Amino acid sequence: MSVDLFTPLTLGPLTLPNRVFMAPLTRMRATMPGNVPGELNALYYRQRATAGLIITEATPVSPYGHGYYKTPGIHTEAQAEGWQLVTRAVHEAGGRIFCQLWHVGRQSHPDLQPGGVLPVAPSALASGGESPVPSGIMKPRVVPRALETDEVPGIVEEFRRGATLAKAAGFDGVEVHGANGYLLEQFLLAGSNQRTDRYGGSVEKRARFYLEVVAAVTAVWGRDRVGARLSPANTYGGVDDPDRWGVFSYLVGELARFQLAYLHFVEPRVAGHTERTDYDQRLLSRNFRPFLTGDTRLVSAGGHDYTSAARAIGDGEADAVAFGRLFISNPDLVQRFQGRNPLNRYDRATFYGGTEVGYTDYPALNNSVT
Ligand SMILES: Cc1cc2nc3c(=O)[nH]c(=O)nc-3n(C[C@H](O)[C@H](O)[C@H](O)COP(=O)(O)O)c2cc1C
Repeated sequence: MSVDLFTPLTLGPLTLPNRVFMAPLTRMRATMPGNVPGELNALYYRQRATAGLIITEATPVSPYGHGYYKTPGIHTEAQAEGWQLVTRAVHEAGGRIFCQLWHVGRQSHPDLQPGGVLPVAPSALASGGESPVPSGIMKPRVVPRALETDEVPGIVEEFRRGATLAKAAGFDGVEVHGANGYLLEQFLLAGSNQRTDRYGGSVEKRARFYLEVVAAVTAVWGRDRVGARLSPANTYGGVDDPDRWGVFSYLVGELARFQLAYLHFVEPRVAGHTERTDYDQRLLSRNFRPFLTGDTRLVSAGGHDYTSAARAIGDGEADAVAFGRLFISNPDLVQRFQGRNPLNRYDRATFYGGTEVGYTDYPALNNSVT
């Protein structure tokens, strides 16, 4: 039987009507103070409920895990209640939604930290780059504080609590954000981890935190309602490693043992959300496919259009494809792909922060923005 983007997919206990996923997209439009999702966010996600699976914007599990102003969290009861608006809206519209669990580590700024403290990281090494802070400007990131060994289990615990709150919020599952230079990748890659304790040194030790987080989250949800996102070629956030293939083949092998619902790969052809061509071909998601066992699905993201996605699914390289920017500007992306209809163009100026403009006002084909 030939498989295409519109062939249903079983994902753990769920049956998805298609393989067009909405990628996690930080939009910085939570209600402040408190970083709580509200009605506007519920409308945005409801508009996109025909996706095979929605993965929410990255959602910090800790007050110290925020690195961008106005990102919704999942570390307070009020946030879980806010997310209920979202999950209810998506379910009423017939959709399914996973919460992406996040800790930015060093990709933050004291202005975003409770009490103005330094952001935490595996080692006191700066990421470079800038953070959007509450005053509305960008500030250069600072040298973070290295976590003490006995603090690390506390962060694993925050992921466990975030997973529990996500359950209370009515999500269908969770995705561990292990990509894009944030805390899990900071531990994993040698360039950002110079520790000499049980969380640093060998690949096995650098992957320990990542795998402890996955274990904690699966203990809450069960393995088949948890996904993990990884970005083997990513350098965003100033992370690097001299042996990426070695690191990621070890990590993927270990993750495979968890029998998660899916592994979600950011393809090397995008850096953050900018296209690139100079990458190590081994780091393409298809090269990790042989490590996956059982029912774990492979999701590919990054720079896909209809044609590349249809090819990846048709060739069996991926089981589903996640779209980021195209889902920002096309709430009905599935229907547009199905009818091979033209797509709305996205406006980068309204990606991060702001109002309903560039958020819930992109028209659907039938012109309704319900
Ligand atoms: C506005 C914006 C916000 C993003 N926020 C997140 C995020 O919260 N978590 C994440 O894992 N990736 C995030 N990404 C990366 C996307 O999920 C995706 O990997 C990237 O956009 C490439 O896919 P695309 O070519 O389909 O847009 C973001 C990308 C954009 C454009």
